[in-house]
Amino acid sequence: MTMQHAPVSVLGMGPMGRAIAAAFLAAGHPTTVWNRTPGKAGDLIARGAVEAGSPSAALEAAELAVVCVIDADAVEAIVDGAVAEPGRLPTSTLVNLTSDGPGRARELAAKAGELGVPYLDGSIMTPAAAIGTGATRVLYSGPAELFDRHRPALAALGGTAVHLGDDPGRAASFDVALLNLFWTSIAGLMHSFALAARQNVPATALAPHAQQMAGLVADLVPGLAADVDAGRFSGADSAALTSVAASLGHIVHVLEETGVPADVTRAAKDTVDAAVAAGHGGDSAARLADFLGR
Ligand SMILES: NC(=O)c1ccc[n+]([C@@H]2O[C@H](COP(=O)([O-])OP(=O)(O)OC[C@H]3O[C@@H](n4cnc5c(N)ncnc54)[C@H](OP(=O)(O)O)[C@@H]3O)[C@@H](O)[C@H]2O)c1
Repeated sequence: MTMQHAPVSVLGMGPMGRAIAAAFLAAGHPTTVWNRTPGKAGDLIARGAVEAGSPSAALEAAELAVVCVIDADAVEAIVDGAVAEPGRLPTSTLVNLTSDGPGRARELAAKAGELGVPYLDGSIMTPAAAIGTGATRVLYSGPAELFDRHRPALAALGGTAVHLGDDPGRAASFDVALLNLFWTSIAGLMHSFALAARQNVPATALAPHAQQMAGLVADLVPGLAADVDAGRFSGADSAALTSVAASLGHIVHVLEETGVPADVTRAAKDTVDAAVAAGHGGDSAARLADFLGR
C-alpha cells in the first residue's frame, strides 16, 4: 500500500464529513466512517466505506482520522468517548476540520497532547460541494511535521492546502476573520436585496451590478491590507471617512423611508461616525481596522 492510499477515517457524517469521506474513497483510500447517530453514511457504504461502531474503532482503523462535526464541544465529546472505551488509545493522527474558535483549537491540541494523540487543526474555507475538486481551500495549523506527513492523503480533498504555522489555533484565527467577512457580506447583500425589492427592483435585476460591486471590494483587499499593516491612513486620494459617513447617512435615510430595518447599515455608520468624532475624518477606510482593533 502506498502512502497515497493510507487508511483514513472520517468522524462526523454531516454534509461536510460525507463529502470528505467521498473524496477519500474517490482517491482510493480505504475509508472508515463513524457518526454519533448511526446510519448517516448514505451511499458511502455502497461505495466501499466501512462503518465503525465507535470513535475508538474508527481511530484504530486509520493512520489519519479526520473529525468534522458541529463544534469543538462535539469533538471533545468524541475524544472523551474514545478515551472511555477499554483498550489502548489509538495513535492515529487526528485532523480536526471542525470550525470553532482559536482558543478551543488550542485546548483540543493540548488535550490530544496529554493523551499522546498527534493533532493537526484545520478550517475548510469552501462549501461541501467543492470538496474533491480544484476549488477546495483548507487552512491547517499545528506541527509542520504532521502536515507534511499527511499531505499526500489530505490532497484527496483537492484544491489548495495551506499550512499557517505551528500554533494549532492559527487556522481558526484565519477562519473566524474570514467567516466574519463572508457572513457580514452575505447579510449586507440580503439587506440590499430587501432595500431594492422595496423599491420594485428584483434581486435578479440588481445582481449583475451587485456582482460588479462585490468585485470592487475584492479588488480593494490587497491595497487596504497593505495600508492597514503599514499604518497608512490618509484619505486624500480615496474617500475620506467624512464622505463615507455622509454616504451611509443617505442610505440609512432611504432605508427608514422605505421601511426596511436599518440596523445593518446603522452599525457600519456608528463605527464611521465614532472614528470621525475621534479626529479621523480625513482618513481612508483603512483607518477603521486600526480604530476597531484598539
Ligand atoms: N457544510 C459546509 O458546507 C461547510 C463548509 C465549511 C465548513 N464547514 C464546517 O464543517 C463542520 C461540519 O459541518 P457539516 O455541515 O458537515 O455538519 P454540521 O451540521 O455542522 O454538524 C453535524 C455533525 O455533527 C455531529 N455532532 C453534533 N453534535 C455532536 C456531539 N455532541 N457528538 C458527536 N457528534 C456530534 C452530528 O452527528 P449526529 O448526526 O449524530 O447529529 C453530525 O455528524 C462544521 O464545523 C462546519 O462549520 C461546513
